[in-house]
Amino acid sequence: MNNDKMRAVICTKYGNPEALKIEKIDKPKPKSNEILVKIFATAVTSSDTYIRRLNVLPMFMQVIAGIFLGFGKPRNPVLGMIVSGEVEEIGDRVTRFKKGDKVFGTTVINSIKMNFGTYADYKCLPEYSNISFKPINMDYIETASIAYGGSMALWCIEKIGFPHKNTNSAEGLKVLIYGASGSVGTALVQLTKSFGADVTGVCSTSNSEFVKSLGASRTIDYKREDFTNKGEKWDYIFDAVGYKKSKKYCKNYKRALMPNGRFHSVDNGSPKFNVEIFDFIKELAEKEALKSVVDRTYSLEQIVEAHSYVDQGHKRGNVIIKVNI
Ligand SMILES: NC(=O)c1ccc[n+]([C@@H]2O[C@H](COP(=O)([O-])OP(=O)(O)OC[C@H]3O[C@@H](n4cnc5c(N)ncnc54)[C@H](OP(=O)(O)O)[C@@H]3O)[C@@H](O)[C@H]2O)c1
Repeated sequence: MNNDKMRAVICTKYGNPEALKIEKIDKPKPKSNEILVKIFATAVTSSDTYIRRLNVLPMFMQVIAGIFLGFGKPRNPVLGMIVSGEVEEIGDRVTRFKKGDKVFGTTVINSIKMNFGTYADYKCLPEYSNISFKPINMDYIETASIAYGGSMALWCIEKIGFPHKNTNSAEGLKVLIYGASGSVGTALVQLTKSFGADVTGVCSTSNSEFVKSLGASRTIDYKREDFTNKGEKWDYIFDAVGYKKSKKYCKNYKRALMPNGRFHSVDNGSPKFNVEIFDFIKELAEKEALKSVVDRTYSLEQIVEAHSYVDQGHKRGNVIIKVNI
């Protein structure tokens, strides 16, 4: 490969997965406050496919999203928000990282300040981006699988004050995770369990044993039962699927909440991340409180297949793209 060029997946227009094309583009050079990360693995998240399909949103939402992301196609055409790789170069003012450091995290700052570009061989990031050091007990693929679900789950947990300081801070609490088998759901099951809660996972029967293996004491199949009709109550209910799919059951969540119980949906508010969240994910991964859940892996050249699979909305945990491995 020409050393000044790299592979990147370009989103040529908002639309179906076939809009994604591999091209050779200029390899970025780090500015003085930036690091250049060689990407070993990234993920295809539900957010990536949401952005690729902006054309199916109602027109007013397309206009709002278009102002931030670009009209017709993304202004910055390389999608991908998950980083798992190695620092190859650093800018002359960088102090937090050195060449050779193994890192992971996200390019996203918050829902407004979005930054993408990890469907590529390399990505430059400011040193104080939402990245941390790779957990020592995980490889790059495993590490790529904990960044999205882990950070979203911790944002949900912090948002409603779920006790999460140590392994027994949530002891005695009953938690229900609606959508326990996706990327955010699998992380929420593992984390709430690791903080001591008794976890009920809502998922289809085919995912029941899988969700129990992550720490749920039992599961409810959303296709057969409405958890709000069971006469049972939980201290915390997390909707990890999002309103569009969950509204049928979650709209009545109040009747399944304890008197002082709390409910939070992943679609409720704009996630905000910081470096501490990724340092905490590393710590939790090293304690095995958060394990990797990889459904499928694809190569960068198979990005269309990977997006088509995630579009179906039934992945188990995470879909990973192997880039330089
Ligand atoms: N607030 C924000 O800005 C923001 C940011 C990022 C993500 N999100 C939200 O987070 C959601 C979850 O993301 P994710 O990556 O974890 O999703 P995901 O991995 O794509 O979720 C897939 C899982 O959802 C389950 N599922 C699908 N339909 C369901 C239904 N009607 N009821 C219960 N479970 C259902 C599937 O289980 P089965 O196969 O068993 O059906 C599958 O395992 C996204 O859809 C998005 O709305 C919001």
